[in-house]
Amino acid sequence: MVSIPLLLAFLAPAAFACCKPLERRSMRVHESRSSVPQGFVNQGPAAPDTVLHMRIALTQSDSAGLEDALMAVSTPGSASFGQHLSKEEVEAFVSPSQDTTDAVRTFLEQSGIQATEITPAGDWLGFQITVGEANQLFDSNFNVFKHAESGRENIVTMAYSVPADLSEHVRLVHPTISAFPKLPLITTPLVNPISQASSSSDVTPPASCTNVTTPACLQDLYNIPTAAAKSSSNNLGVAGFIEEFANKQDLSLFLKTLRPDINPATTFHLETLDNGTNSQVLADAGFEASLDIQYTVGIATGVPVTFISAGEQNFDSDLDGFLDMIRFLQFQISPPQVLTTSYGQDEDDVSPALAESLCNAYAQLGARGVSILFSSGDGGVGGGGQGLECTTFEPAFPSGCPFMTSVGATTDIPETSAFFSSGGFSNVFARPAYQAQAVAAYLKRLGTTNAGLFNTTGRAFPDVAAQGTDFEVFVDQQPFLISGTSCSSPLFAAMVSLVNAELLSAGKRPLGFLNPFLYGAAAGAFSDITTGSNPGCGTNGFPALEGWDPVTGLGTPNFSALLAAAKKAAGL
Ligand SMILES: *[C@@H]1O[C@H](CO)[C@@H](O)[C@H](O)[C@H]1NC(C)=O
Ligand SMILES: *[C@@H]1O[C@H](CO)[C@@H](O)[C@H](O)[C@H]1NC(C)=O
Ligand SMILES: *[C@@H]1O[C@H](CO)[C@@H](O)[C@H](O)[C@H]1NC(C)=O
Ligand SMILES: *[C@@H]1O[C@H](CO)[C@@H](O)[C@H](O)[C@H]1NC(C)=O
Repeated sequence: MVSIPLLLAFLAPAAFACCKPLERRSMRVHESRSSVPQGFVNQGPAAPDTVLHMRIALTQSDSAGLEDALMAVSTPGSASFGQHLSKEEVEAFVSPSQDTTDAVRTFLEQSGIQATEITPAGDWLGFQITVGEANQLFDSNFNVFKHAESGRENIVTMAYSVPADLSEHVRLVHPTISAFPKLPLITTPLVNPISQASSSSDVTPPASCTNVTTPACLQDLYNIPTAAAKSSSNNLGVAGFIEEFANKQDLSLFLKTLRPDINPATTFHLETLDNGTNSQVLADAGFEASLDIQYTVGIATGVPVTFISAGEQNFDSDLDGFLDMIRFLQFQISPPQVLTTSYGQDEDDVSPALAESLCNAYAQLGARGVSILFSSGDGGVGGGGQGLECTTFEPAFPSGCPFMTSVGATTDIPETSAFFSSGGFSNVFARPAYQAQAVAAYLKRLGTTNAGLFNTTGRAFPDVAAQGTDFEVFVDQQPFLISGTSCSSPLFAAMVSLVNAELLSAGKRPLGFLNPFLYGAAAGAFSDITTGSNPGCGTNGFPALEGWDPVTGLGTPNFSALLAAAKKAAGL
């Protein structure tokens, strides 16, 4: 943990104040962190001439209005259910007032900084300055923090300030107090090579899916249709980061072997940002990207799938393109109706203001009718730093965000919780109304177990679960078994896309933000998982119990029941 002298060094006031009219405005600390992020070591001050790609998030004109609108369009039975907002309607809620924009721009211009709007609503400004300039502008003290395990270096300040009269106009400045260990943020803990011989080309579903999980097994287990969905406007997005590439030949071999009933030439579209690529050199294929693409294309039969690859030229400073991915989609007139992401991090690594800003961006896309899904994480209650000491449970980000859907993992048949399935309670986001009843019932059953180790008022996750062990995946033309909640999110996303296909072809809107529907009209479409737990931090973690629980959420989906609930909610 933190050594006190180190901390004091960070908090020492910036020593130099040379050429800026700081004294004209009183500065106020805007964000600070009390301890060095877990696993990081201070390497000393960042070189003053290092260029920072800085961003400022401005106060939005009506973020509460956005949340109300999101809930109204996402809650079955509400008068405006399914009447998703247009891009412009969303932007009207989140664009800053003219006062706010003017105040922040004037402040920057006084220091010779020309900022550009980097989101369609203009609620984020971007500019480049040096560390030396940033230290003066924001009373910060940027140091280089090295993540001991990965070697990744972040430029971090323990605190920063903005002029006191500006604090109401500024949500956050980034990069500042957040630090991120190297991705893959959600790792796939068990990657086992399997011999060619054990890769069966037998298409009949195995009597049990215990040993190898395949599309046929999942279709059987969850009643997922094998027939191709119709609807030309449907699209399932798969987020790719950290140069994880999905190979088309591997997909083709996967389909030939495990989906012989569909055309092995079935493929995916590619969109890139931040100079992303998708190398088709077989040796460059990544486990995560291969898994994500093979179990979306291989389950969402007939649904167009788009691999969205964020490259290394992301200037969201160690967030590996997380901010840019969502900005990229905000600019699209027709973003994919479903986006699955199998990357994430510990909530503690992200400043609360940054977590709220990303969460707000998910709400914006949700209001437009996009279902945002993430894996819940593979570290049980200990989070990504489960190898390190934890004195309290470590919730995952963005699973703590109430405006996305977090997917945990199960294993075996009959299904039980996967031990690694992260779940718990956010320390940043309060519990949303849609899950209040389900979570209260769990807390009552839990009693005093784990008391003091988690935040009883926080947004609880995951929302749902799906199988997450021993998925057969082809990487560089070889079969492997992969486990992790990284399996579960693409699988559930594919099922949501198949539901959307039916809704769209009946002239209805897609499901959009899922949770009010899942906890409400669709709650009966999940098989409750009541065994197992997610150990971590020297405890057994949370037990899966009757009803919602912070290991498997509402349980695992039954596609036919989910579709029936969706049709009913849509008035079909
Ligand atoms: C499948 O798993 C079971 C128990 O986990 C094991 O006994 C059996 O040998 C496995 N079968 C194969 C073909 O690997
Ligand atoms: C990204 O690629 C484009 C050309 O494809 C190039 O002009 C640009 O300089 C690249 N950007 C960076 C930051 O490398
Ligand atoms: C617990 O969560 C709430 C949000 O529900 C938050 O305001 C509070 O600060 C959290 N407490 C701690 C100790 O993190
Ligand atoms: C799945 O849902 C269908 C339709 O609601 C129902 O007939 C079936 O029994 C369900 N299966 C399971 C395993 O719950």
